[in-house]
Amino acid sequence: PNCPVIAIDGPTASGKGTVAALVAGRLGYHYLDSGAIYRVLAVAVERAALNPDLPVDLLRIIPMAANLPVQFRDDRILLGGVDVSESIRTEDAGVMASRLAVVPEVRAGLLQRQRDFRQAPGLVADGRDMGSVVFPDSFLKVFLTASAQVRAERRVRQIEGRGQKADFQAIYSDLMARDKRDSERAVAPLRPCEDALVLDCSNMPIDQVVSTILNWAQERI
Ligand code: C5P
Repeated sequence: PNCPVIAIDGPTASGKGTVAALVAGRLGYHYLDSGAIYRVLAVAVERAALNPDLPVDLLRIIPMAANLPVQFRDDRILLGGVDVSESIRTEDAGVMASRLAVVPEVRAGLLQRQRDFRQAPGLVADGRDMGSVVFPDSFLKVFLTASAQVRAERRVRQIEGRGQKADFQAIYSDLMARDKRDSERAVAPLRPCEDALVLDCSNMPIDQVVSTILNWAQERI
């Protein structure tokens, strides 16, 4: 349970998911996409037609978080046995995930599920609070960021890559709203922790980001 963890935190669309998966691959470590867990809960909540702003609904959502029937199988993500790998990636699921993420009981309910990913030989975990809350004893904490412009452009390319239409302005303002909600919430707000190394990758190709992090890891192993 005390195997090494690398925490990669940062705002939405900073590229941390891609980077974290590549770093994990290079080290032969496991990989945790913690945002996916919040997104799976979001899909479960949407399917149950629950509204986290309603206290009665929230009373049902909190136990859902603690008992979320999520499974990661190869590169697929299952909710109650149903493949939700695509449906968790919509903007709606992202917005709902971020609304659920402000609820302390939801965060607490999802904590153990995230910690279960810590298995030999090691883990690379990406999210918002990997270094601060979930794995505070990570041997390397990276805060990966990029300008809002670059992140919105990246999101547009991702969406268009799936053959869907993307509206830059809408995506840009959604991203700003999500950043604001994530960084202003009382519990586990999005910000670099004191011992994190901040990496702004606005003008860096992905392989350079990966090699920078691998170098930092090597210095500490
Ligand atoms: O990273 P991703 O965009 O998939 O995460 C979706 C939402 O889940 C984020 O906007 C954030 O509100 C929430 N989240 C979180 N803590 C994490 C991972 C994600 O609050 N560790």
